[in-house]
Amino acid sequence: MVFRITPGYLKPQALSKMYLSAADHRIPLSDGNSIPIIGLGTFSEPKLTPKGMCVASVKTAIDVGFRHFDGAYVYQNEHEVGEAIREKMAEGKVRREDIFYCGKLWTTHHDPEMVRPSLERTLRVLQLDYVDLYIIELPMAFKPGDEPYPKDENGKYLYHKTNLCATWEVECHPYFTQSKLLKFCQQHDIVLVAYSPLGTSRNPFWVNVSSPPLLKDPLLNSLGKKYNKTAAQVVLRFNIQRGVVVIPKSFNPERIKENFQIFDFSLTKEEMNDIEALNKNVRFVEMLMWCDHPEYPFHEEY
Ligand code: A2P
Repeated sequence: MVFRITPGYLKPQALSKMYLSAADHRIPLSDGNSIPIIGLGTFSEPKLTPKGMCVASVKTAIDVGFRHFDGAYVYQNEHEVGEAIREKMAEGKVRREDIFYCGKLWTTHHDPEMVRPSLERTLRVLQLDYVDLYIIELPMAFKPGDEPYPKDENGKYLYHKTNLCATWEVECHPYFTQSKLLKFCQQHDIVLVAYSPLGTSRNPFWVNVSSPPLLKDPLLNSLGKKYNKTAAQVVLRFNIQRGVVVIPKSFNPERIKENFQIFDFSLTKEEMNDIEALNKNVRFVEMLMWCDHPEYPFHEEY
């Protein structure tokens, strides 16, 4: 069994030379690995998602050109992601080395001795020999154990203290452009991966729904009209054009295809600036139900 854990460092010369196409859109990393600049997000509310839908979506995504998959054990569909990848490998459509899979350590497994068994469990569930990236899902630990959302008898979440020194995922889209963080990352040759690049689904349990939906934005829609693209494609193009990896989630075949068709147009410098100016510094993914956690990360400016 081989563990390949990829640190997210970008060679400084890479960004300036970056040429992105549907067939070749990997960003080189300083350790010799590379990461495709667009990936399929695979989180979907488990109770609302029919069995098999994730397998079908990952297979569609591979067929339309996606090579990067963002998953996690806690999404409860990691076995389906693995099944789809393995089927496409068996068909001869892709080789394992063409695929970039990112798995995640859940909050109840932050204690150092739990990390390796968690990764090994992910590999067993995927039925793959390695993952390309393994990151900490959230920087807040919960009481260790098999219950993913542990609570006491009063329904209060049970938190836990651990020592964090790890990769960090960041929400990023035109309403939350993260320009300060992006500048910091570029100065230090770190690749930024944007979760919720489309402004996420609107589940009020963990999403701030007081901000208007990103994809309804008039500027993004008018730019879409100009290029014969949708607002979603404009939003994704904006991020990849500034070197930010995006992982839009869709389990809809048309939208999976749509989200990959972002390599055949480009935004002008002025349009990039206009989109940047939409920034409201508003997070969609606030996770306010955990804001009393001592390590709650979103009180910080970054
Ligand atoms: P669906 O899976 O039905 O396509 P994010 O990646 O920012 O978390 O956003 C995911 C949400 O956006 C999901 O609800 C997904 O629904 C929806 N979505 C994905 N692609 C598109 C698109 N091209 N246009 C509109 N909505 C989209």
